Amino acid sequence: MSTTTTQLSPAEMLEFVQEPIRPGLKRITDNLENAAKKEDAFLSKLLNHVLQSKGKRIRPSVALLIALSQDNKEDNVEQMATAVELLHIATLVHDDTVDDSEIRRGQFTVHKLWGQNTAILLGDFIFSSAAALVSETDNVPVMHRFSQTAIELSRGALNETEEAFKHQTKEQYLNRIYNKTASVFATIAESAAVLSDIPEEQVTSLRNYGYNLGMAFQIVDDILDFDGNSEELGKPVGADLANGLLTLPAFVVIDQDGNDDVFQASFTNPHDDDVLQTAVNRVQQPEVITESYAIAHQYSKAAVAALSYLEASRAKESLTVLVDYATTRRN
Ligand code: IPE
Ligand code: IPE
Ligand code: MG
Ligand code: MG
Repeated sequence: MSTTTTQLSPAEMLEFVQEPIRPGLKRITDNLENAAKKEDAFLSKLLNHVLQSKGKRIRPSVALLIALSQDNKEDNVEQMATAVELLHIATLVHDDTVDDSEIRRGQFTVHKLWGQNTAILLGDFIFSSAAALVSETDNVPVMHRFSQTAIELSRGALNETEEAFKHQTKEQYLNRIYNKTASVFATIAESAAVLSDIPEEQVTSLRNYGYNLGMAFQIVDDILDFDGNSEELGKPVGADLANGLLTLPAFVVIDQDGNDDVFQASFTNPHDDDVLQTAVNRVQQPEVITESYAIAHQYSKAAVAALSYLEASRAKESLTVLVDYATTRRN
């Protein structure tokens, strides 16, 4: 990264990252919004609600930047990136329903406005629309990777419900965040590389880029759940422990304390706010947050290393700055 980009705020970094792919991101956003228009009034209202909300479009950005690094102007990459963003949105609708979370992207969630049943069915509809769209790429390896990812996402979400409020290991946590988040990043990078006809060993490097970026991205999400603010994030904070989940900052505490007593106390007294607050305060210690960021940085360094074979280009600069954005972001 150049010295000029190291001085940017996170918002400016994202602006720099997405600047060369604005037209493609705009077309993806238009495609998402148009998808809602084809349906009857009720479904159209639901789809509009979720598809017009402004996400950061990090996953499509990875795809478009990889294509740009190869001067690939194929529509297929945009098609696939739209499908993966839809897959991501479907998991958010389901995740908020399972977590009983009221705010997403700064607005009320589907289950809060229309109830759980509608939210589950709408999530399924969006999942299926994503699968239909990815099949339009006509690329069997890409379709295969997409279906595997849908399985991994469901596995991650199911593991989360199964492990909640129990003793949890760091290994279970790392598996969970691979399944629920890094798998999507790995897949979008790999698929963009495949659709851009990049040689096979380099496809693997780009998959590794996506994997490591995704792991860092989720670890930072988990840090922000303790250290962020809900205004900036557009979603609630402090939800993970309250939902019985141990994330990376909690495992830093467990390593320091040699036991998970402070968390088990909150899990066995789920209605006692003081016990929960004691656990939250323990995680919010500055040295815990610093150590958690140090671990996120191990993944972000691996992500940058995975780009080493790519020739210098504006797209590569964006892919590199995206990694710094992932670990400095506040939303
Ligand atoms: C939220 O993802 C879910 C996680 C994997 C942490 P994003 O932070 O990319 O959400 P949007 O798309 O910008 O809303
Ligand atoms: C990501 O994890 C969930 C999905 C992949 C849908 P989180 O549960 O931490 O995401 P947020 O914090 O609700 O966005
Ligand atoms: Mg959640
Ligand atoms: Mg989170």
